[in-house]
Amino acid sequence: MIEKKDLDYFNYGKIENEKFWKRFHHHKPNLQNKYILDFGCGHGALCIDLAKKGAKKVTGIDLEEKLLNFANINLKQNYNQYQSIIDFQKKDLLNTNFEKKFDLIVTKDTFEHSLNLPDILSKFYEILKKGGRVYAGFGPLYNSYNGDHGRTQLRLPWLHVILRDKFIIKRYNKNNKISIDKIEDLGLSKYSLKDYKKIFTDSKFEIEFFITNQSDHPVSIIFNLLSRIDFLKEFFTYNIYCILLKKD
Ligand SMILES: C[S@@+](CC[C@H](N)C(=O)[O-])C[C@H]1O[C@@H](n2cnc3c(N)ncnc32)[C@H](O)[C@@H]1O
Repeated sequence: MIEKKDLDYFNYGKIENEKFWKRFHHHKPNLQNKYILDFGCGHGALCIDLAKKGAKKVTGIDLEEKLLNFANINLKQNYNQYQSIIDFQKKDLLNTNFEKKFDLIVTKDTFEHSLNLPDILSKFYEILKKGGRVYAGFGPLYNSYNGDHGRTQLRLPWLHVILRDKFIIKRYNKNNKISIDKIEDLGLSKYSLKDYKKIFTDSKFEIEFFITNQSDHPVSIIFNLLSRIDFLKEFFTYNIYCILLKKD
């Protein structure tokens, strides 16, 4: 049975997909006949989009069984024509051996939750064909105004950056049944903009495209201006869109 809130989230994902592709500007990939991995596919909206746009085979992986159950039922009930193209799997990327190499890897709003990004990029490199590319778009980044995704329950923007982790954890544990030892236990990677740049630069990939602060929201104009000031950059940069190329 499909729950309404899952279907609503999936439908919202369809709108978000359009924004995702738009943010790569004129660097959008050619999806025709491509073997594609969606890392952190969630409800599966991006996988359906890839199939619709001509991908040959789409593998969507995620850790969350509940999301994958929705993705599979939704595929069967509402997108039956793509059943032979899309394969949703409950898999942890780092513990998975894929039978075939991919032409492309796409990943949307997942890197800000990925604790071990250097390992993830190494795995991406291993499972991509030569000349293959990663299209990654993600945010909000931890140091931006809502970079805690509301998970620290502090309610005010940037408070998670201003307050010490020790205090945040103590307060959180007081108010919740399941306690945490560190902020990362809330599923947040805590990487800064600087960290991401270093991780991408240190990986084997060539950074073909890298852009920040992609949004249509009117307030984003102010954020974009403030992000140009060096010491404010970390706090006013909220997302990253990048393309990583496996050259050889
Ligand atoms: C915020 S969700 C984004 C889902 C979807 N891409 C979207 O845009 O709606 C991030 C997803 O990444 C998945 N994820 C995180 N690390 C993963 C890993 N190592 N292997 C597979 N999936 C992972 C999580 O389970 C989660 O569902």
